[in-house]
Amino acid sequence: MCGIVGAISKDKNILPILITGLKNLEYRGYDSAGVAYFENNKICITKVTGKVDNLVQKISDDDSSKIGIAHTRWATHGKATTVNAHPHKVGHITIVHNGIIENFEEIKEKLSQCGYSFKTSTDSEIAAALLNYYYEEYNNIEKAIESFMKEAKGSYAISLLIDNDQNNLYCLKKESPLIIATGNNFNIIASDIRAILKYTNKYYILDDFEYAKVNNSEIIIKNSKGLVLNKELKEYTHENKENSKGHYKHYMLKEIMEQSKTIADTAIPYIDDGIASLLTMPDLTKYNAIDIVGCGTAYHAGLVAKYLFQEITNTKCNVYLASEYRYQNNFLSKDTLTIFISQSGETADTIAALKLVKSNNLPSLGIINVENSSMTFLVDQCLYTKAGSEIAVASTKAYTAQVTMLSLLALSHAYRNKTLKEKEVLEVLKEFKNISNLITPLLDKKNIYQSIAKEIYNEDDIFYIGRGLDYVLSMEGALKLKEISYIHSEAYAAGELKHGTISLVKKNTPVLCSATNDKLNPKTVSNLKEVLARGAKVYLITDDSYNDPAFNIINIPKANIFIKPLLIVIPYQLIAYYTADLKGTDIDKPKNLAKSVTVE
Ligand code: M6R
Repeated sequence: MCGIVGAISKDKNILPILITGLKNLEYRGYDSAGVAYFENNKICITKVTGKVDNLVQKISDDDSSKIGIAHTRWATHGKATTVNAHPHKVGHITIVHNGIIENFEEIKEKLSQCGYSFKTSTDSEIAAALLNYYYEEYNNIEKAIESFMKEAKGSYAISLLIDNDQNNLYCLKKESPLIIATGNNFNIIASDIRAILKYTNKYYILDDFEYAKVNNSEIIIKNSKGLVLNKELKEYTHENKENSKGHYKHYMLKEIMEQSKTIADTAIPYIDDGIASLLTMPDLTKYNAIDIVGCGTAYHAGLVAKYLFQEITNTKCNVYLASEYRYQNNFLSKDTLTIFISQSGETADTIAALKLVKSNNLPSLGIINVENSSMTFLVDQCLYTKAGSEIAVASTKAYTAQVTMLSLLALSHAYRNKTLKEKEVLEVLKEFKNISNLITPLLDKKNIYQSIAKEIYNEDDIFYIGRGLDYVLSMEGALKLKEISYIHSEAYAAGELKHGTISLVKKNTPVLCSATNDKLNPKTVSNLKEVLARGAKVYLITDDSYNDPAFNIINIPKANIFIKPLLIVIPYQLIAYYTADLKGTDIDKPKNLAKSVTVE
């Protein structure tokens, strides 16, 4: 993970560019940060633990430089300490690095034998040392970079400074994103063009095994054999809205509250003109099966789709965690469409799974939120969710946008393969058009969610249960709670509890449950009785008319199966939010996490 920026200018102080870039890259990690720049012919390095704001406090208004590099970290090798923070300087070379050098132990061993010693626990310091080793051998940085590329395994986006060279920045890339943007008398290296749009929207994308020499007026990009490449200059033309929290205490709350709109925005192109617009969805009838791949919340959205495809459209559908999909036998077939779901479009495991499918020449479809992100260039076809920019690490509106898109995809398939009649499809479309009226009252039940939060926020363990679609939703509910409140919460299929996990239920253990399936509800209620008998406190989200005083009931409106998941998740999101708020955690940037997981 980690975000990197480098900047060089003919006449301006580049420190504001580095800091703005880093702040915009904090979605890639925020456990420590650092900067290195030339001042009076000397490289100055400042590093801090924590967020970029801590770094800003260490930089005085008098500090100024025309060339520098900076980094915001998500620790992989070595704790989040100042010493492990980047930049790392070894000999003549100072680097910032995003990625993982997989053979760092081997390289370390070799360099140790050559007299190198190391101060940090990071693989990045080893990368700096290897670059320095070859730089000293050839007295030529380009040859050093080419040799580094031959030897280093794993992934890297690196930007580097060399002692005594205030005129050039260098960068190199393999499997971690890197762009070089260009402006009037300045150039910027960054993990992501969106991070530096304040300064320029023109940029080159570096591909794997490419490197560049960047000065204030020129960018020379070469391949790993030293051949100069003529790369296409791109222009980022998508809207880049400034994002503020408005009157909300956290981005997460704002994003939850935006969902009536973001669901509608995602759905509208496919519902506004009835069946005709629905049929602009890709035709899936040519496939025998559907595979869905994603991570975390995106995986959970895939599980909702599996339910709809299999139960409603009678189409075989498997859902895989991207990190598992890559390393198993997937029985790849040209008759299977693989759908990749991602908010960021940058998740390393999902990208790797997508590359696997592509390398086998098999069809792929992306459901992606961030325009122009890496995955959008790789998939055969892309359906953009319209969640807008999601800042909070815990995904909420991106999830409901993904579920909306997948539901409409399944609905179009049900129409095409005739598993639903036209009249039934029209009914669902009508409900989608009415979605705000269903969601808004749920968003407004703040008092209910806050009072549940008060009852559970001091607990150590919380269980989420459900059957069928309700089970899949409970997985998303448990993930939301654990990632922002740090309370251990797990989802279980309601019928599975008694096969082991119920041994953990004791007096006052909170059990959150959704029961919205008329056929399965009686069974789920029996499971709730079982936990009640062991002293649990039960919170039940339901569209049924239960009035058992032993259950704390949160009513949701009755809705079609294609709409239901979008309703069930709202109480789960808000209970998680208010619980974390009572605990006083850093809700938008929870510990140990990052918005975009760009390492495997
Ligand atoms: O950007 P992606 O949708 O590919 O991200 C996938 C997961 O990392 C993400 O959903 C993560 O699980 C969220 N923090 C969950 O709230």
